[in-house]
Amino acid sequence: MAEMMKSAIDLAPFKELMLQTCGFFFESDREATLVAGIMQRMSQRGIDAADRYHDLLAADPDEFRQFIELMTVNETYFFRESHHLEMLVDYVVPQILAERKTGLIRIVSVGCSTGEEPYSIAIKLQERFGDDSRRLFQIVGTDIDSSVIAKAKLATYGKNSFRNMDETILERYFKQSGTGTYQLDRTRNLVSFEQVNLKDAFYPVLIQQADVIFYRNVSIYFPSLVQREIFGRLALLLREGGHLFVGTTETMQHDIGILTLVNRGSVFFYRKIAGAKTDEIRTLKQEPAERLQKKPESFRRPVTGDIPVSTAPSQVRTGMATSGPKSSTSANNGSVKKQFDDALQMAISSRLDEALALLDAIIEQDSSFTRAHSLKGSIYMSKSRFKEADALCNTILSRDPLCLEAYLMLGVTARHAGDDENAQRRFREALYLKSSCWLAHFYMAEILFGQGDKNRSRSGYEAALRVLEEGSSLKRQEEFFPLAFNAEQFMTICRHKLSLLKNG
Ligand SMILES: C[S@@+](CC[C@H](N)C(=O)[O-])C[C@H]1O[C@@H](n2cnc3c(N)ncnc32)[C@H](O)[C@@H]1O
Repeated sequence: MAEMMKSAIDLAPFKELMLQTCGFFFESDREATLVAGIMQRMSQRGIDAADRYHDLLAADPDEFRQFIELMTVNETYFFRESHHLEMLVDYVVPQILAERKTGLIRIVSVGCSTGEEPYSIAIKLQERFGDDSRRLFQIVGTDIDSSVIAKAKLATYGKNSFRNMDETILERYFKQSGTGTYQLDRTRNLVSFEQVNLKDAFYPVLIQQADVIFYRNVSIYFPSLVQREIFGRLALLLREGGHLFVGTTETMQHDIGILTLVNRGSVFFYRKIAGAKTDEIRTLKQEPAERLQKKPESFRRPVTGDIPVSTAPSQVRTGMATSGPKSSTSANNGSVKKQFDDALQMAISSRLDEALALLDAIIEQDSSFTRAHSLKGSIYMSKSRFKEADALCNTILSRDPLCLEAYLMLGVTARHAGDDENAQRRFREALYLKSSCWLAHFYMAEILFGQGDKNRSRSGYEAALRVLEEGSSLKRQEEFFPLAFNAEQFMTICRHKLSLLKNG
């Protein structure tokens, strides 16, 4: 039956929808899950044409939520891959405590399913740090699937969940709540839960500035481009020095130059570090990334009422977004976009004051239009108003931590102020966001060149040149605050520097 339906259903639009909204990849075995889910929901909704069901799925957040529940794989259990938990309590947490005397240590489990993972973390911490855990730690579990989040909040489990747990822990932390079911004691209050789709553009404030992220057995369902995209965003969530654990089988495919892979006592994890101890670092490589597939303009992202990402406090407060006006009506959008194009043209033709005045008018109409803020920042830079550019970029990032241009401009202003350490940090952040950002590679290379670090500056110039040579003129400009830079000149400088490095 499923085979019959499969040939009758055009799966391509469903696959595209799932890929773009959730990162799910339905090839080979997983195709059967997709077909079964479509058939089940069509029958429950009394719909007999797959294209009509597709339209409903794309338009109705509640239908979308129910469909996602059928598509996720929620397999999990307590103390899964417990060597990561040992590493957390024996090494990671003591190290953080030694370095930071105040503030909660934030530990986030993304793709936490029914909660066994964050609760295992809580139990382990409780075992090691006792009641101090309450003042030391904040643990957050997130998942795309609202049904598993609801179960996690109940904290009630059957024997399958306990397959890797000591009897003594069961007795100490759980009380029987039904036939064969047990509920976690007050340790459960250490953990809070939020529904978060990792494929969404914004993550809630609650999981930002994380000290440790557990991202285990989630990426296996994503194609490599999505893995890379999500890993980059998780890297941005981490504090400098933060730790990230992936499932053991997922380790190597994330060694892509975004975070540093560390091997400690044969346990692998990732760190966001500028200068790790050399005996810990297994690899640190930089490689250009392919461009992520862009969402079709016409695509409508289903938004459920309680998806926190789309209602993240920072977004609600500020309304700022990565691209284009969001809060205006569509007619207004059109006129704001048009005005922005005019402002850009003015800026390109050096009518900087006129452009600034127009940008202020645009921002007045729609303060969420990040590109207008970025362009304003780049005009400030062209006018050598570095302090104002700096303040503006910091404001942009406080509202939209994914704005690449803001990191680049902050890097450039830091360089201008002679603060190479800070500049490197900013360019590195730009590379976390987009590893093919040639401007960040270029500036990193310039700093390293100045410091006499020949090998690393050579790789930086080569990476910048590779992206510039491979890219179309559009691609060269996409990450570029448009005024002060000319890609051709950069290519010439890169080649010149590479020849100096070769001959020197
Ligand atoms: C196999 S479970 C892993 C649970 C736990 N991390 C562990 O290792 O035992 C994978 C979880 O990832 C969640 N997931 C899949 N795609 C996601 C996405 N785009 N955003 C957030 N969670 C996602 C699924 O709903 C599922 O509960």
